[in-house]
Amino acid sequence: MLEKKISLLDQKIDSMLKKIKGVEDFKIYDEVFDKSTLLSLYYLSNKGVIDLLYGVVKSGKESNIFLGKKGRKNLAVKIHLVGTSDYRSMLKYIDGDIRFRGIKKNRRSIVYTWVKKEYKNLKRAMECGIPAPKPVSFRNNVLVMEFLGKRGHPYPMLKEVELDKPTAVYDKILEYIKRLYCGCNLVHADLSEYNILMKDSEPILIDFSAAVIREHPMAEEFLRRDIYNITRFFGEDFEKALEYVKGC
Ligand SMILES: Nc1ncnc2c1ncn2[C@@H]1O[C@H](COP(=O)(O)OP(=O)(O)O)[C@@H](O)[C@H]1O
Ligand SMILES: [Mg+2]
Repeated sequence: MLEKKISLLDQKIDSMLKKIKGVEDFKIYDEVFDKSTLLSLYYLSNKGVIDLLYGVVKSGKESNIFLGKKGRKNLAVKIHLVGTSDYRSMLKYIDGDIRFRGIKKNRRSIVYTWVKKEYKNLKRAMECGIPAPKPVSFRNNVLVMEFLGKRGHPYPMLKEVELDKPTAVYDKILEYIKRLYCGCNLVHADLSEYNILMKDSEPILIDFSAAVIREHPMAEEFLRRDIYNITRFFGEDFEKALEYVKGC
């Protein structure tokens, strides 16, 4: 009985391994695709969410973004590393958010909650019309979302581009922070020039895993930090921006 189960699991893992293409970096390959992640990917592929994984878009210490394919459509597949995750820092953004009350406090379940949290936050942002990747699905440490980029390359970060009309971009970002706060009851909590992609002159907010609801005890502090980062980047007035955002 157990042997049968193990052989079924191995079959699933083997079939998923065949669907990973173009990941030539062996370090990433070994680090990211452990058995449990392969089974999560298998689940998503079996559900018809993804057909293939097609190479690394960005690799980081705690998560890696892959280009995924569903038919001819590109997808962004964000895979969190459970082993090296800074799960203690994550807790600061989970505790106090009533949506995730009563979760288990071990490393694995904190990382899984982190992923679920990004999915839910992206959904909320989409519902109130914030430009952000549309969430598609998630499973354990794997999040699947709309791919923001051209021909498999992500749009550049705000930090990397030369802006023609910086004030217009600043105004838009501030309006999105306000709409998130007043309309979606959400504070991004990790907003900076690194977590905004630029589609020509249109800013798109990404990386929503830290975002908390307004009732979170640290929401106010996170909001101030987000606004501080953005006003600093654009050389704008912090107090004025804060007043604008909070004037719901
Ligand atoms: N939906 C997406 N479409 C295309 N590229 C993405 C997407 N999400 C993230 N990326 C790429 O991966 C990078 C890191 O993503 P991010 O969500 O900020 O993860 P991290 O938690 O590692 O900061 C981004 O700067 C961007 O280049
Ligand atoms: Mg980021």
